[in-house]
Amino acid sequence: MSASRKLLILPGDGIGPEVMRQVRRVIDWMGRRRGVAFEVKEGLVGGAAIDAHGVPLTDATLAEAKAADAVLLGAVGGPRWDKVEFEKRPEAGLLRLRKDLELFANLRPALVLDALVDSSPLKADIVRGLDLLIVRELTGGVYFGEPRGIRDLGNGIRQGINTQVYTTTEIQRVARVAFELARKRSRRVCSVEKANVMESSLLWREEVTKLHQEEFVDVELSHMYADNCAMQLLRNPRQFDVIVTDNLFGDILSDEAAMLTGSLGMLPSASLGATDADGRRRALYEPVHGSAPDIAGRDMANPIAALFSLAMCLRHSFDLAEEAGLIEKAVAQVLKGGMRTTDIMAPGMARCSTTVMGDSITRALDKLNV
Ligand code: IPM
Ligand code: MG
Repeated sequence: MSASRKLLILPGDGIGPEVMRQVRRVIDWMGRRRGVAFEVKEGLVGGAAIDAHGVPLTDATLAEAKAADAVLLGAVGGPRWDKVEFEKRPEAGLLRLRKDLELFANLRPALVLDALVDSSPLKADIVRGLDLLIVRELTGGVYFGEPRGIRDLGNGIRQGINTQVYTTTEIQRVARVAFELARKRSRRVCSVEKANVMESSLLWREEVTKLHQEEFVDVELSHMYADNCAMQLLRNPRQFDVIVTDNLFGDILSDEAAMLTGSLGMLPSASLGATDADGRRRALYEPVHGSAPDIAGRDMANPIAALFSLAMCLRHSFDLAEEAGLIEKAVAQVLKGGMRTTDIMAPGMARCSTTVMGDSITRALDKLNV
C-alpha cells in the first residue's frame, strides 16, 4: 500500500452530509490521536451532483473514486429529484459507482448490540447476540441485466422488461468471498435463491455447490429459497452465520436483517472488488440506511451506521483492525451510557442529536486511547 492512504468522501443527499460530518471528525481524530493520517478528498454524488452538474456522477468523480484506496459514501436520493429522467436519477450515480468499480461483493453485517436488544421489534429472546452477515452480489442480476426497458406493444398496452441474468464467473466470485469470510466466523454459509422458479437460481445453486465441494468442504453449506429465508429471518435469525445471495434478494433481505437489530441507523456495509496483483482491492463503504429526506437537515439522524462503515473501511482497506475496534468500542460505551438518537430511543434513555452523538463518541475515543 502507498504511504498515503487516499480516501474519497461522497456525502450525497438527505442525511448523508450530516452523518458524514461525524465520520470526518473521527477520521481527523485518527490522524491527531493515533498518527494514522489520510489524504481526504470530497466529491458529489446523487442529487447533489445532479444539482451541480446535471448528472448523478461525473466522469471526474468516477476517476477520483478509481484513484482512491477507498470511497466512503453517505446516501443518495430524495423526492426533490423524483421528476428527473430515469437514467439520471440519483440512484443511477450509486449504481454506476458499483458497476464501474466492479464492486461485486456487498457485505452487510447485522449485529445486535447488548445495549440495543430492546430496540428490536422482535422479542429480545429471538435477537439477543445475533451476528449474521449477508453477502449480496452487487454488480449483476436484474439490476443490470439486458434487455431492459419499457416498450409499446400497441393498442394502448405497454410492457416493462428486466432480465435476471448470472454467469458462472459472477456466481463463483461472490460465493468465494462468502466462503472465505465464513472461515473467519462460524464456518456456515446459507446460499439463498429461488431455484424452484428461476433457471438463473438453478445455476446459482449448482455453482455454489460445486465451489463448495472443490475448495470449501470445511465450511458447512446449506441452501434456502428466498421466501423461506425472509420467514426464517424473523422466526429464528440466529440460525444464520453467512448468507450469500443475488443482487435483488440481497437488497430485500438485508433491509429485513437490518431491522432485526432495531434500526437501519446502525448498519454499515462494505462493497468490495477483486484483489489486484499488488494486493489492492477497490472498496466502497456506506451505511445501509438511505437518505431519509423526512429527517434531513434536522440534526436527528443516527451517525453510527456511517461510523461503523468507517470501521469496516479501516479494517478491510487499511488493515487497521485496532483503530476499527476503537470505534466499535466507543460506540458500544456511549450506547451503554444511555445516549440514543431518535431512531433507537427507548424509555429511560437520553435522546440526543447527530452532533451530540458524534461528540460523545469522540470523547469515548479519547478515554479509550490513553
Ligand atoms: C441499497 C439501496 C440501493 C439498491 C438503491 C438506493 C439503488 O436500496 O443499497 O440497498 O437498491 O441497491
Ligand atoms: Mg436497499
